[in-house]
Order: sequence, then C-alpha cells, then structure tokens
Amino acid sequence: MGHTGEALRPPYVAGFEAAGEIVGVGPDVESPLPLGTHVVGAGPGAFSQYMTMPASGVLPVPYGWSDAAALGMVLNWATALAALKPLGETKRGEVVLVQAAAGGVGQAAVRLARHYGARVIATASPAKHHTVQALGADEVLDSRRPDLAEAITRSTGGVDLVLESVGQATFKTSLSVTKPFTGRIVVFGAASGDATLTTHDLVFTHQVQIKGLHIGALAVAAPSVYQWLLAEIEALIAHGVYPPGTPQVHPLAEGAMLLRQLEAGETEGKLALDPWR
Ligand SMILES: NC(=O)c1ccc[n+]([C@@H]2O[C@H](COP(=O)([O-])OP(=O)(O)OC[C@H]3O[C@@H](n4cnc5c(N)ncnc54)[C@H](OP(=O)(O)O)[C@@H]3O)[C@@H](O)[C@H]2O)c1
Repeated sequence: MGHTGEALRPPYVAGFEAAGEIVGVGPDVESPLPLGTHVVGAGPGAFSQYMTMPASGVLPVPYGWSDAAALGMVLNWATALAALKPLGETKRGEVVLVQAAAGGVGQAAVRLARHYGARVIATASPAKHHTVQALGADEVLDSRRPDLAEAITRSTGGVDLVLESVGQATFKTSLSVTKPFTGRIVVFGAASGDATLTTHDLVFTHQVQIKGLHIGALAVAAPSVYQWLLAEIEALIAHGVYPPGTPQVHPLAEGAMLLRQLEAGETEGKLALDPWR
C-alpha cells in the first residue's frame, strides 16, 4: 500500500498482477503463446475479469500449479529478487535485514535471501513471527519494539543489505543499522508513509548506498535485467526453492475490505481476488 504519488482519476481499475487464460493476442506480438495458455503477468486493471498485459512480461503458469498459486511470481518474487540480486548485490555470508518480512514481498525475500546464503534478520508484528520463522529467517524481531535498531546492531555488528518497504515507521532504523559505505538499502515501498532523507544525512551521519526499485519501471527501463529475473524465477521453481503460492483467495466484492486490512497492516502473505466468484 502507500501512495502512488499520482492523482488517480475515474474510471480507475485497481490491481497490477493477474493470472489466467490467454483469450486474445495483439497483432504485433512476436512468437505469441497459444490461446488458452495459462499465464501470470502484470499490467494495469488486474481487479477485473479481463485485462491486457505486455507479452514480454508474462510467464506460463508452472505445470501442475493453479492460476492462484502462480500469483506473486512477477510482483512479489520478482521484486524481492531484484532487491536482493541485481540491485542489492547480496553475497553468501552477508547479513540481510528484511523489514515487513511477513508480507507478500517479505516472505519471498526471506526464502530467497536464505537460498543465496545470507544470514537473515527479519522484522514483523509478533503475531506473524511463526510464519517468518518457518521460512528460515535466522532471527525475527518485533518491528515495533522501541530499541529495534540497537537490537539489530548488537546482534549483527551492522547490516550489509536492507530491504525497505515500510517507509516512515522503519526507515530511520534501516539507515542506522546499515554498514557505512559498503551497506546498501533497497527502497521499494512506503506502507506506513513517506520517510525523508537529506543530503546532510548521507554526508555526515549515514554514508550508505540507497537504491530505489519499482518493478514495473525496471521492466521498461532495464529489460535485460527484467528478463534475467524471469529466467532466474523459472530456475528457482525448477529447483524447488520457489514452491507454489498459497494465497488467500476472496471474491472480488471483498476487495475494498481487504485493501483496508492491507492498509492497516493486518494481513499476512499474499491475497488474491477472484472476479468470477
Ligand atoms: N516497488 C515495487 O515494485 C513494489 C512491488 C511490490 C510491492 N511493493 C510495495 O512493497 C510493500 C510491501 O508489499 P507487500 O505486498 O509485501 O505488502 P503487505 O503484504 O501488505 O506487507 C506490508 C507489511 O508492512 C508492515 N507494516 C509496518 N508498519 C506498517 C504500517 N504503519 N502500516 C501498514 N503496514 C505496516 C506490516 O507488517 P507487520 O505487521 O509485520 O509489521 C504489513 O503487513 C508495499 O508498500 C507495496 O506497495 C512495491
């Protein structure tokens, strides 16, 4: 959640990621997948029965998976992977801090960071700790504890990479636990609102590397990086690192209620809307 920064005008159909059957292909698409193929992809207006998505960004739903199980592939997993690898440049043995680790992107990030050999420090609300522990995080801390920064620094001596998507509520902690000069913070969301950072902060108090990430913008501006992400995701699925997703599927009519719960941080993992129910 958070804000897009753009004023949205009606008619606006929300949603970015969807999975389903191809019912039509644009005339300019080279080597299109056959009609009837089940794919997952992203594009505007996903909270609806029909939508269009760029052919270059779709992936076939893996063999034996339901459409719902494939949701998250091009949004949560691609974002977590981009944050960890091409942007975060994480290496075996490094310490990675995943904020909001019980969220959709956070859960993928914990699994991936462990797979790439990082020591994973995760933050989440206490009620969600069991979920994050089950994913293999080395340490799970209460995201709201007042001494969070001290606890992380005491335990790690400094973090190599932070995956930051909460914004206002956690950004100060993320800055203060990151190792000076070599440490990286990849920012891809602001669920609790915008945080501020000044040039003074970067020069005098927090000499860290800050990288911004928007997966849709990355797909357009750096298509070769995006194609690497899609190929790596297919390899992760083939090797069993990425298991079928288990989103909670709700009827489309419950969308507004679910978005309010998301905004309040009350949800866990991936949610999906079924427009045919
Ligand atoms: N840039 C991109 O390309 C991209 C792609 C995908 C997602 N995103 C963004 O990344 C963020 C995470 O996505 P997601 O799908 O993992 O979201 P999510 O499942 O809704 O997880 C967000 C979590 O943030 C935590 N949080 C901490 N303080 C919060 C506060 N004050 N208000 C609300 N939540 C708070 C909550 O976990 P706890 O209760 O455990 O603290 C909440 O469950 C979102 O902001 C989303 O918009 C960006």
